[in-house]
Amino acid sequence: MLYPKVRRKLVLALLGCALTTSLNAAEVEVLHWWTSGGEAKSIQELKRLLAAQGHKWRDFAVGGGGGDQALEALRKRVEEGRPPAAAQIKGPSIQAWGKRGALANLDDVASEQRWDVQLPSAVAELMKYQGHYVAVPVNVHRVNWLWISRDALQKVSGRSPQSWEEFFSLGDRLRKAGIVPLAHGNQPWQNFTTFEIVVLGVGGPDFYRKALIQLDPTAIKSDTMLKAISTFRRLKGYTDAGANDRDWNRATSMVIKGEAAMQFMGDWAKGEFLAAGQKPLKDFYCASAPGTSRAFIFNIDSFAMFRLQDPKAVEAQKAMARAVMSPEFQSIFNLNKGSIPVATAVNLDNFDHCAQESSAYFVATSMIHALVPSVAHKMAISSAQQAAVQNAVHTIWNKDEASNEDGVGLLLAAAKVPAD
Ligand code: BGC
Repeated sequence: MLYPKVRRKLVLALLGCALTTSLNAAEVEVLHWWTSGGEAKSIQELKRLLAAQGHKWRDFAVGGGGGDQALEALRKRVEEGRPPAAAQIKGPSIQAWGKRGALANLDDVASEQRWDVQLPSAVAELMKYQGHYVAVPVNVHRVNWLWISRDALQKVSGRSPQSWEEFFSLGDRLRKAGIVPLAHGNQPWQNFTTFEIVVLGVGGPDFYRKALIQLDPTAIKSDTMLKAISTFRRLKGYTDAGANDRDWNRATSMVIKGEAAMQFMGDWAKGEFLAAGQKPLKDFYCASAPGTSRAFIFNIDSFAMFRLQDPKAVEAQKAMARAVMSPEFQSIFNLNKGSIPVATAVNLDNFDHCAQESSAYFVATSMIHALVPSVAHKMAISSAQQAAVQNAVHTIWNKDEASNEDGVGLLLAAAKVPAD
């Protein structure tokens, strides 16, 4: 039993607390493209954390994997002078929005939570514009994975392919057994995701950098690129007729159900397996894509914060940034999303072996200069260049009558598009 005086004090203190929370409570509008099963489950955690602080989440979700549609919607809203509080933006686009003076300064939250210490320095740099934090990172995705149905593999007594030749001979056996070897969706970003994986697998990290990041004409004209293009086009023969315009998560679902054996995709695909109740090793395998076991294509999701006027809205925006970098969120979000935490101090004991491997590869590949940014996922080149290369790759996949040399020509033309 509390003494009346103490009780009164406690009640007043609690009332004060509730009052401050509700006085400062505001809405945070967040643009993102996380609409698949695993993605929606992950973003739910952020909504929950914000709600716990009394803030209201306003969802600005624009579906379409890879974010092309979402970013188009963002451009329109900013042009109308109504930016959201936060938007899922990555890599060089953060700098581009910073240059336009559109982003808010998060330095006070960053110094309070010691982001400079918590983040790998290369990641911290990506989140800053002219030395000031304007975005908060969420995770690290590894792109160069091959997801394999354990059932399908067992049906043909196969093993994870280590080389492209092994991939194709496994594919032949799967097809004979009536299983679609490769689940895929013929959408520009999915084709580009597969292409960058093939370029890395065929040419290695140095070639990847020269060809896809520096857009160096000599690398694009090389025999290595011809080989990458022909390997990429050969994959098409291992997909099914339904691939046209199939969403990535529907392709993953084919692997989950054992209708298809494999899928090339970043580890957001693991979020789908987990959301469907499947477990790595028991139901599915995560293997490095052929030829890429010693390399890592990284894709870091982040939220850039837009400059707002209302002080309450600014507070809510900062609360969101703080929540994203909290160990609680970094852990639970990434457990659902398939990625690994970007904050280095977060404990990985609860994570599965795919995530543990990803984390070990992230560190090891950075030491041997084999850690490369995803071009398909907008981490490396300007948005105009990225769109041009993506279109070229989409045409290469779809124009069966063209030659591999024509493909080189398309890439060379795309490489000439100036950075925006
Ligand atoms: C994002 C992932 C997302 C995936 C599919 C990628 O560009 O980085 O977070 O899950 O697209 O939508």
